[in-house]
Amino acid sequence: MPTLQTSTPARLCYLHLASKEPQRQIDFYQRMLDMDSQVQADGSWILSGPKRAMLVSPADHSGLLACAYDLGDQARLAALRDRLIERDCTIEDYHSPLLEPGAFLIRDPQGRQTIFGVSRPHPGADRQGMPGRLQHVVFQTTELEAMIDFYVNTVGFTVSDNVVDEQTGQLMVCFLRSDDEHHSLAFFRGSKNEWDHHCYETNEWNDIRDWGDRFAKERISIFFGPGRHGPGNNLFFMVVDADRNRLEFSAELEITDVAREPGIWPQGEYTLNSWGRAWIRS
Ligand SMILES: [Fe+2]
Repeated sequence: MPTLQTSTPARLCYLHLASKEPQRQIDFYQRMLDMDSQVQADGSWILSGPKRAMLVSPADHSGLLACAYDLGDQARLAALRDRLIERDCTIEDYHSPLLEPGAFLIRDPQGRQTIFGVSRPHPGADRQGMPGRLQHVVFQTTELEAMIDFYVNTVGFTVSDNVVDEQTGQLMVCFLRSDDEHHSLAFFRGSKNEWDHHCYETNEWNDIRDWGDRFAKERISIFFGPGRHGPGNNLFFMVVDADRNRLEFSAELEITDVAREPGIWPQGEYTLNSWGRAWIRS
């Protein structure tokens, strides 16, 4: 069966956020993540920096509206569109200032929106700044099995690692890849359906140090990490943005071969952080 990784590799390219206080949020990403902002005719802002981008729309709530994946070229995008239609997935044409014409949107069974398209160059992408490529997004869900079924069997993600409760045998976390990187999407079993976090992949451990120092200067404290995740083997820490959305900085994320079988990890602190204390979702 063709997968995203084998046939149409896809990389996370931007997030579309809603914000109750967009100016505060834009200030945060300009100041802390070296992003430029540009207001759009519809009142949304484009934020863009080196290998990272965002749309921020004023709203009566804050959170994630959609995440967008780049297919790299129109031929791959068309191949993915055909495959999704074959698998009875509803496709909605979608216009985005950050994507070439031809982008489309799909909705998972709980309503999360994923956009697929081909990135277009945007102002700010060439600017200088600390290294951090927008790389993955993670959700908590009350319907973990149904989400995994949709993203694997309909969309074409591949399971890299599962985290399982050893007492009950229940799946607790699933890490999914869309190209050679260990995960670009993951789901935690939770009591709520909420956006968990998004992540920027840096080049090395010293970058994690430098990002930590930058947040320290602004008295933004780390709430999880630094540490190393078991699944993915990446170094990380997490902070929150101006709307209290969680963001992660990572290095050394595993590169995962097409033929690798899904791994199974026990649910526990040392799986989520092999250096010790972990944030266990509930
Ligand atoms: Fe993460």
